[in-house]
Amino acid sequence: MAIILGLESSCDETAAAIVRSDRTILAHALAGQEDHHRAFGGVVPEIAARAHAELMTPLVQAALADAGMTLDDIDAIAATAGPGLIGGVMVGLVTAKALAMATDKPLIAVNHLEGHALSPRLVDADLAFPYLLLLVSGGHCQLLRVNGVGDYNRLATTIDDAVGEAFDKTAKILGLGFPGGPAVERAAANGEAGAVPLPRPLKGADEPHFSFAGLKSAVLRAHETGQYRVEDIAASFQQAVVDCLLDRLRYSVDRMESLPALVVAGGVAANGAIRTMLADFATARGMRFVAPPLWLCTDNGAMIAWAGAERFAAGLIDGLDFVARPRWPL
Ligand code: KG4
Ligand code: ZN
Repeated sequence: MAIILGLESSCDETAAAIVRSDRTILAHALAGQEDHHRAFGGVVPEIAARAHAELMTPLVQAALADAGMTLDDIDAIAATAGPGLIGGVMVGLVTAKALAMATDKPLIAVNHLEGHALSPRLVDADLAFPYLLLLVSGGHCQLLRVNGVGDYNRLATTIDDAVGEAFDKTAKILGLGFPGGPAVERAAANGEAGAVPLPRPLKGADEPHFSFAGLKSAVLRAHETGQYRVEDIAASFQQAVVDCLLDRLRYSVDRMESLPALVVAGGVAANGAIRTMLADFATARGMRFVAPPLWLCTDNGAMIAWAGAERFAAGLIDGLDFVARPRWPL
């Protein structure tokens, strides 16, 4: 059984986790940077990179201490090597390289999206390949056929904003604070989903892709009229997102061979309305619905350690010359 240390630093969470290949999470340490970025209403790359540099080493120490381990007990060191804010990615990757070099252990460069894509398998031993994955995060909105480790078919992607980005921008417009997704969801709980007429971009389109930019602009216009309660705009926005995701999902599923499981991953998978819609859709299509627990949906080190464990088991290790990638499609 292999024990993997995984580092994550591609956006605004600094994290280190230790996972064993039998799915035991031995430690997971995480530090959010919300307080660093709140005043700016979004993640500032340079501030994020500096915070990662300060936080990463203590988090590795904390994870080792929690697991009651030293670096000697670790079999391989995995880190997010992209895509993401490059300064932050470099902090995690360089830390992993230094640890790998000092301990003479293998380095595993993990694609952050693969971390999200495989994370449901960390908590669900029965989730076998292939499965249909809706990956919804701050930077991405993709529908993927996950065939195996390192083997993905992208069926659809967003032509403009990511779905999490739409939540974050909506929160900013409505003055709901940062991070936006959870704030919009909380406000929506006290609003009326039918109160504000908003568009459903690409709904009914004869192509598989997603689009959210028009929705965000419509939120801005609705808010500027001064006619609507913030809670009602939030609820109407969330409903529009749910409707768009459902319509686009239906388009692809209608046109492909049936798969046994529908899986959701990425930060937006923490959203209750989206999870409910997906669970209902899966049931209607005779698919099993798998969603990671909330803490595993948003960025964390365990998903990177787990992707590292899956890659390690497949013999996929990387050289110390691996270069961090700001863009890296699956
Ligand atoms: O996967 P993640 O932690 O980071 C990226 O790799 O992007 O996703 C963060 C995104 C943010 O846009 C955040 O607003 C969104 O996930 N998010 C949510 C919720 N929790 C986090 N969006 C909607 N509802 C939520 N409850
Ligand atoms: Zn992410």
